[in-house]
Amino acid sequence: MEIVPLGPGFAAELRGLTLAQIAIDDAAYRDARAAFEEHSVLVFRGQEVSDDTQLAFSRRFGPPEVTKVGSIGTGTHFVTLTTIGPDGKVVPPDHRYALRNKANQLWHTDSSFKPVPALTSVLSARIIPARGGETEFVSTRLAFERLDPALRKKLESSFAWHDYGHSRAQIAPGLATPEERAALPPQCWRMVWKNPANGRGALYLASHAYAIEGMEPAAGKALIDELMAAATAPGRSYLHAWRGGDVVMWDNRATMHRGRPWPSHEARLMVRTTISATTADGLAAMRPPPRQAAE
Ligand SMILES: [Fe+2]
Repeated sequence: MEIVPLGPGFAAELRGLTLAQIAIDDAAYRDARAAFEEHSVLVFRGQEVSDDTQLAFSRRFGPPEVTKVGSIGTGTHFVTLTTIGPDGKVVPPDHRYALRNKANQLWHTDSSFKPVPALTSVLSARIIPARGGETEFVSTRLAFERLDPALRKKLESSFAWHDYGHSRAQIAPGLATPEERAALPPQCWRMVWKNPANGRGALYLASHAYAIEGMEPAAGKALIDELMAAATAPGRSYLHAWRGGDVVMWDNRATMHRGRPWPSHEARLMVRTTISATTADGLAAMRPPPRQAAE
């Protein structure tokens, strides 16, 4: 296995290992897992990906999420991100599929709005546009480590509220349906996720975050916005330009990402599997003390 660094202090390509090998070989998994803990974003090129291979690989890292209500793939372990409608044609820019892609273009971490947040997401390119449609990543671990010590200390004992409806409302009112909002009530998480494998903390933030527990709403939102801006400042990102056969996985505890636009008449189809975080991934320490969760 060869590790080729890609981004500013994080993200790496893993060469000499396939998803299929990692799915069946314990030593290959251990190497990939160590690289995941260290580099936060892993890129695999030239893979032959089927849904089965992707799921078998993903399962190595933990329990797969079941796709939520309102997404393509509900009830399965797969999320299909596409602009191709049921008739096989690319949908118009005001279609719900297109608006959802727009919502994915806000900086976020996956599943922070769910009762069990995600450890990792695995995304494979199935149909890609000729240009555009990149996925851009930042390290919230490096962003956290750049903050001054007093703020780091404050954030380690602060908790933020995350809501799917909040991020969707930034794109279009009603983009999150009443059914989705009912299924996904706001969640409260510690603002720093400490990685048990290396002890390093990372800001746990997303477009879904809207308030900080115990802070006046406007002040809390202003601090969230300031931290998001610092984490995503120019020069801090790794931009992944997709090629056929690419699979990218990222650590939702230590990164944020966003989709980039592409010409709206071009088709794009990506398949995501998402692995839930467990106690071994540092999840228990993310939950607020009971009195704060009671709000
Ligand atoms: Fe995402």
